[in-house]
Amino acid sequence: MNSADVRKKYLEFFKKRGHAEIPSAPLVPENDPTTLFTSSGMQPLIPYLLGQPHPLGKRLVDSQKSFRSQDIDEVGDNRHTTFFEMLGNWSLGDYFKKEQLPWIFEFLTKELGLDPKRLYVTVFEGGNGVTKDTESIEIWKEVFRGVGIEAKEGERIFAYPAKKNWWSRSGEPQNMPPGEPGGPDSEVFFDFGEQLKLHEQSPFKNEKCHPNCDCGRFLEIANSVFMQYQKMEDGSLKELKQKNVDFGGGLERMIAAVNDDPDIFKTDMFTPLIHILENVSGIPYGGSKGSKESEGEEKTTRAMRIISDHMRASVMMMADGVLPSNKTQGYVLRRLIRRSLLYGRKLGLSKDLTYIGKLVAPIAQIYEGAYPTVTEKAEEIKLILQEEALRFGKTLERGLAEIEKVKTLDGKIAFMLYETYGFPWEMTEEIAREKGQQVDKKQFEQEFKKHQELSRTAAAGMFKGGLADKSEATVALHTAHHLLLAALQKIVDPGIRQRGSNITAERLRMDFNFARKLTPEELKKVEDLVNQKIAEDLPVVRKEMKREEAEKIGAQMEFGHKYPDVVSVYIVGSPSDFFSAEFCGGPHVGRTGTIGRFKIKKEESAASGIRRIYASVE
Ligand code: ALA
Repeated sequence: MNSADVRKKYLEFFKKRGHAEIPSAPLVPENDPTTLFTSSGMQPLIPYLLGQPHPLGKRLVDSQKSFRSQDIDEVGDNRHTTFFEMLGNWSLGDYFKKEQLPWIFEFLTKELGLDPKRLYVTVFEGGNGVTKDTESIEIWKEVFRGVGIEAKEGERIFAYPAKKNWWSRSGEPQNMPPGEPGGPDSEVFFDFGEQLKLHEQSPFKNEKCHPNCDCGRFLEIANSVFMQYQKMEDGSLKELKQKNVDFGGGLERMIAAVNDDPDIFKTDMFTPLIHILENVSGIPYGGSKGSKESEGEEKTTRAMRIISDHMRASVMMMADGVLPSNKTQGYVLRRLIRRSLLYGRKLGLSKDLTYIGKLVAPIAQIYEGAYPTVTEKAEEIKLILQEEALRFGKTLERGLAEIEKVKTLDGKIAFMLYETYGFPWEMTEEIAREKGQQVDKKQFEQEFKKHQELSRTAAAGMFKGGLADKSEATVALHTAHHLLLAALQKIVDPGIRQRGSNITAERLRMDFNFARKLTPEELKKVEDLVNQKIAEDLPVVRKEMKREEAEKIGAQMEFGHKYPDVVSVYIVGSPSDFFSAEFCGGPHVGRTGTIGRFKIKKEESAASGIRRIYASVE
């Protein structure tokens, strides 16, 4: 069974149980300035979990592209990744625990064929005014009894506090901001067995092993969240009007369980990448199933895992319109690429850095069926990656020269290298070791913490600003964004398509395909046309329609984005003779007259074949 089989089986299983399939949302959330990346399946569904009716009904299923930058330092072991695919199903105030838990068990044991004896489950032990989830315990007992297993608490069913068995986007109840939905959850773990001796070889060897132990023997493969609470301003938890189920299961991890090998880098989602790295470096991948590898092998294996994970994440982000830069999503992408290249040095790959371009085609192939955009953009992505690698090669030389200059590599310099050149801590430590030096890790960590606090404060300010203005400035710029795309098509070239966008309260940014710089005359004409449409005070109307119908009227879609059968379209002008129509979730102004005066601030190259416009309204 490969990844495509597991994905398909899952979608089919829930479709048979009355769920409508929804397409994966893009990795960069639309109209949500509070977060850089989509990091779970529920994120694009928040309004529906809070009670807004979903056009496709109360039962949904999907496979969502997800990225978690907070996991970046854990990548390198056999199971952590930054990018992953989350299989998800939702009940929006429809079914609840007694349907969800048996269904997941049935899917894992019957469809994937996992041995029930190797499954362990966890539930919420209670806290924060919410009682212990005894209902789930009873359901699990019943489910296991159905396959002849006497499931006892403390043996097969384990209760944990909120730290482990409560899920919200911000974790435990005390960390949830007002308005945030969350709830107790119940997780399923797959046991790879004692014989692999994973526990004995782990840093936790002196503690007792249990499903939530971090030694790697047990792998979490399924999480059913009973999303039935919302955090209130006064800090309490209030029951939502509807009781929801929010399920998420990592596709990569499920395949590892099916393969009965805890190394997810040995699944079909990674092996083609590992093979290329083996070929270009001449070093075999280690990743032995149980017994310990030598230190050297461990290092190269870790490097191969990090490069494969980071490059997969980079390619998927770029397919969704992110370009390397020094800000927001582009900055994260740049760091992923740089870390890959640095870890490549551990494989002896330090001369020609363009080898990373070779990883694009296999990634596109892995996702051919599920996300065809990657194939459509593969050539473009490869060129951008190789350009970025060449540029980094030069930065790297400067970083290494910086190290040469200093006698003692203190923690502050190590942090500067991390911050400015993207040197991961271990890398700096090792360079330093080659010179017979030690680096002050404590000092490095202090600097790191200081920086984190600063950026958290800055981020809080930015998000607050963004959200506070969302109702006016951001929304006006969002409608202006639609007008701009239509004006570019009408004045410059009808083949222009949007390739990326970013809107803050201050300005809009749009990336689009076009081969050359726009002339000042063209820019003036585009700006004038947008202002003319603002002056005409056209209505902006949201219509729900069948996807084919929307395509027929020529509504603009985001390039390569997969849409559900029923879509929301924003039309500017009269529906029979509109100026602009785009597949979009909003929000928008009601009439263009409220937008203000539109001004193009800058036009520049964003990447080869991609132009970028910054504009604002005054
Ligand atoms: N939203 C839950 C998770 O991400 C299912 O684990």
